[in-house]
Parts: sequence; structure tokens; C-alpha cells
Amino acid sequence: MDLSVVEKNVMDLCAETADFIRNESLHFDRKRIEQKDTFSNLVSYVDKESEKKIVSSLKKILPGAGFLAEEGTQLKGENEYQWIIDPLDGTTNFLHGVPIFAISIALMKMNKPVVGVIYEVSHNECFHATEGGAFLNKNKIRVSPIADLRESLLATGFPYYHTEKKNQYLDIIKTFLERTHGIRRFGSAAIDLAYVACGRLEGFFEYDLNAWDVAAGTFILEQAGGKVSDFKGGTNFIFGRELCAAGNIHADMLKIIGEHWWT
Ligand code: IPD
Ligand code: CA
Ligand code: CA
Repeated sequence: MDLSVVEKNVMDLCAETADFIRNESLHFDRKRIEQKDTFSNLVSYVDKESEKKIVSSLKKILPGAGFLAEEGTQLKGENEYQWIIDPLDGTTNFLHGVPIFAISIALMKMNKPVVGVIYEVSHNECFHATEGGAFLNKNKIRVSPIADLRESLLATGFPYYHTEKKNQYLDIIKTFLERTHGIRRFGSAAIDLAYVACGRLEGFFEYDLNAWDVAAGTFILEQAGGKVSDFKGGTNFIFGRELCAAGNIHADMLKIIGEHWWT
């Protein structure tokens, strides 16, 4: 299978789906917001429609592959391939009219990503990778060369659910605020990872994320020369709900996370 052809087809599909999402954002009616399991975990017909469009096209791009997608599509594949999809990452932003949201699609082969595409809708920025490297709108990208935490800009996110780990997480944030140029919270983990991959940010950390938030972004970041791990430094970051991702400050970030997380 020529994965660069698959990558190109997924990029085209994302561009089309982004047109739909952008169009809906222009006249979105807040009455159409639905709650999932808690008042702060939201969804709308735009997420669901976007997923439908993506799934039906991907079935043609790669017949027989399985699916895991945020808005409910779960299908066991007939071969070793599986798509992991977030049809709209940054839903809360979208619903409030904040123009920071993306589509995230990863193709897994035997549970390892082989293609990743993140499409940032508002600026038409398509971050994409195969094992041949990572690109932004077809231009090669690399992580930031900065290796000193004091020169770094980070991103994080805050989980929808306030778990017993909240205080440890706030301690990590406090320490990073004291030792870096700052922390951003864009509201889309896919965009956070894509920005680390192209060197706009030096690092990103978050917990309680799902596979659809991170499968494409972590692959793109690794192909751009970055390092990703769970909070223990291990490899369980796609399904493990803990993620530390960076260019050249990964070890320093992990040390600070470790000092607070298991207390
Ligand atoms: C969310 C975003 C956000 C992160 C949340 C995710 P959604 O995804 O990626 O940045 O902090 O944990 O659930 O709900 O907008 O697809
Ligand atoms: Ca998401
Ligand atoms: Ca989503």
C-alpha cells in the first residue's frame, strides 16, 4: 500500500470537511449545543456530521479498515488497519465562536500510527506525516531547537472532569509558570501537538485525553523529531491518558511532572 497516496487523500478529505465546519461556524445557533455526560462536555450536530462525512469517505479510501471515532463510530476491521478520528477537536471553542479547532485523523497499522493528518480549520493549516517526515501544507517541519526550559513556551489543557489529581496538576502548572515563558491553553490537543511539531511551542502536557485527541498529533510530532511519552517516560501515551510531548525539553518537563504527579 502506498501510504503517501492515503495521506494525500486524507488531506483532501480534511480540506472538504473543514469547509463544512467553517461554514457552520458562521451561523451556528447555540440552541443546538447538546450536553454529553456532564454540563461541560459538549457536542453538536457539526461534530456528528463531520464524523459521518469522514467515515464514509475513509471507507472508500481504505476498504476493510477498522474505526475508532469520538462521536460513536467503532468498527472492527477486516485487516490490520484502523482509523482513529476526532471529527472536531476544540468543540468548546467552536460552540463559543472561538476560531481554534481542528480535524484529527490517524491511520494505525497493527496499533501503531503510520499516517497522521491534523487540519486547523480557521487558517487552513494542514499538518501531515507519514514515516517519511512531517509537513505543514507540504513544507517540512521540525521541532524547536530550544533546549532551555527558561526560553520555552508550553501548552496544556484542563480536563472536563475534576479528578482527585487536580491539585497535583495545578502544582505542575504553577512550577512551569515560574520556569518558562508561559503556558497556553488553546482548547484543542491536536493543535497543541501540531504546534509543538512545527516549533511554535516547545512542549505540551495533559492528562485524561483520549486516543482520538492524540493519535495523529503524537505521530506528526515524532516524525518532526520530537519526543512523546506518558508521565512515567513510557510509551503508553495514545491510550494511557497521560502525555508529555516536546522538542528538546522533554526530559526537563518529565522531571517536573514526576516531582508532583505521584505525591
Ligand atoms: C478536547 C480538546 C481539549 C482537551 C480536552 C479534549 P474536544 O477535545 O482537545 O484541548 O483539553 O480534554 O477532550 O472535546 O474538543 O474534541
Ligand atoms: Ca478532542
Ligand atoms: Ca471532538
